[in-house]
Amino acid sequence: MELNLVDRWLCGAEVALRTLSGGSRSERPTPSPEAADEQVAAHELDAKERRLSGALMRVNHVGEVCAQALYQAQALATADPQVRAQMTSAAREEVDHLAWTEARLAQLGDRPSLLNPLWYGGAFLIGLAAGRLGDKVSLGFVVETERQVEHHLEGHLERLPPGDLASRAIVGQMRADEAQHAVAAQLAGGVTLPAPVRGAMRLAAKVMTGTAHYV
Ligand SMILES: [Fe+2]
Ligand SMILES: [Fe+2]
Repeated sequence: MELNLVDRWLCGAEVALRTLSGGSRSERPTPSPEAADEQVAAHELDAKERRLSGALMRVNHVGEVCAQALYQAQALATADPQVRAQMTSAAREEVDHLAWTEARLAQLGDRPSLLNPLWYGGAFLIGLAAGRLGDKVSLGFVVETERQVEHHLEGHLERLPPGDLASRAIVGQMRADEAQHAVAAQLAGGVTLPAPVRGAMRLAAKVMTGTAHYV
């Protein structure tokens, strides 16, 4: 059943509340380390390692808060039901990422970013702006965002403590999913964004990740 515009905005508001209140539930089980890996990581994380893992997982959680905002806004902005379905289905997988990173943060004794409402609001406005430029640009924005996130997660796999196999398993699965989201958006007709736009997106992401590491 196709929802009307008011219904879709109400659903969007519900997603925003759920994202920011920590009430997201994953559909897929949390990725866990291979049994062989678990034997390698016999030691518990020390306080310094736990702090680093907590900071990196907070950054990843903020990224997933932004992913919800971007996908919701872009789904609201398009008039094409097929593009909307694609955005909504990717957003569902991002809910898993959101729930996994949130749970891992709690296990590490850390907390989500205090600025999440701000990140959500900013990303939502950017998503609406991208959506207004038409579906090909909007999908191109998804391609570029997902590629940048994939690259960023690769960096986190290098920085996470080697013994933090639980976080590494989550980040590894997220990286694989983000790569898939980029491919799907490209196949759906996403165009390559101009280099200055890609550069501005990298800069914005740097400000967000740099801040979320601490706050
Ligand atoms: Fe994600
Ligand atoms: Fe994604």
